[in-house]
Amino acid sequence: MKHILLAVLWSGLSLRLVLHSRAEEGLEFPNFDGKDRVLDINDRNYKKALKRYDLLCLFFHEPVPNNKGLQKRFQMTELVLELTAQVLENKDIGFGMVDSQKDAKVANKLGLQEVGSVYVFKDDRVIEFDGELSADTLVEFLLDVLEDPVEIINNAMELRAFERMEEDIRLIGYFRGEDLHYKAFQEASERFQPYIKFFATFDKSVAKHLSLKMNEVNFYEPFMEEPAILPGRPLSELDIVEFVHQHRRATLRKLRAENMFEIWEDDMDGIHIVAFAEEEDPDGYEFLEILKDVARDNTNNPELSIVWIDPDDFPLLTTYWEKTFKLDLFRPQIGVVNVTDADSVWLDMSNDEDLPTAEELEDWIEDVLSGRVNTEDDDEFTDEQEDEFYVSEEGDVNPDDENDGDDGDY
Ligand SMILES: *[C@@H]1O[C@H](CO)[C@@H](O)[C@H](O)[C@H]1NC(C)=O
Repeated sequence: MKHILLAVLWSGLSLRLVLHSRAEEGLEFPNFDGKDRVLDINDRNYKKALKRYDLLCLFFHEPVPNNKGLQKRFQMTELVLELTAQVLENKDIGFGMVDSQKDAKVANKLGLQEVGSVYVFKDDRVIEFDGELSADTLVEFLLDVLEDPVEIINNAMELRAFERMEEDIRLIGYFRGEDLHYKAFQEASERFQPYIKFFATFDKSVAKHLSLKMNEVNFYEPFMEEPAILPGRPLSELDIVEFVHQHRRATLRKLRAENMFEIWEDDMDGIHIVAFAEEEDPDGYEFLEILKDVARDNTNNPELSIVWIDPDDFPLLTTYWEKTFKLDLFRPQIGVVNVTDADSVWLDMSNDEDLPTAEELEDWIEDVLSGRVNTEDDDEFTDEQEDEFYVSEEGDVNPDDENDGDDGDY
């Protein structure tokens, strides 16, 4: 703990140096106050901890390493938990660490499997946190898990907010009230909280606006204009759960800090089609609109899922991606990434004044799905040179040349 304290005092210090001369209040970032809130979970205290809190948040970790440098890394993770615990102090959330070796038995009893993961216990459910392990992301996640898994839509204003959430997978059901059918919907929602959003309405005009019939449930895929209607009504919990499992992988998915590992681990036979586009950049925005068109045209193709990454959301990863994929992320990019070795091949858009059209993009995607464009036979493509559209990162196009006149990222 001492090292943590030191690190915190230090970061606190540097923050204060910046803030000290200011008289204004109201923007004070929390600093770790040095109080231990994270429990060391073991055989004797885990049951009590489970019972005591609305939520119990456990970090399942490898034994503390001997190496000083790695210890520091471990302490940084511990600090994320401490800070999260401090910020959420007035919520009924317990925090703990479970050592994969020392507490192997407890881990087994709790069903913790993946070392390095955070698990959240709510009632009799376990929810794995699949996001970036930072205090911001974890706090947001836990607040979402604390909420009721079903949000009720009562009026036109709430309806408009619902309609704006195009990046999320959403379900909405129309029910008479909190009856059996609503309960089934609610039970289903608990299995997906907080990754998939569930809404319900008891209001006739809201239902009418969404063309929802009584006891009907609609499924909104991200970025699609029209929902899918779940077959049959009333629906059982199992009907809903199965439908969601089947339709969960969207044609266009946005990578976000809170679900980044969930998405990345859900690859398509070892690859991802990845699109980088900054929504706030004019080119990025245009490219995204084209991508959405392509996704809408191909939403019924179960083979296709494009992961959209807005580099603005991941400042810490941007330079890593540029280096790994040999890309300029100031421009929109689309390519195929092998998740085993991060080998990749990207659609060459560098020489074109214009972005590809939806048709060109669809042709390229077809080539990816058929295996004509892949990360494995780079040489073949650069040898053939049959289509100047394709360029591989290991090919004979030198990224330095490509970037001439640019601001020289490489
Ligand atoms: C991904 O890379 C691995 C390791 O290089 C290779 O064995 C595998 O075939 C590749 N997968 C695809 C789909 O190209």
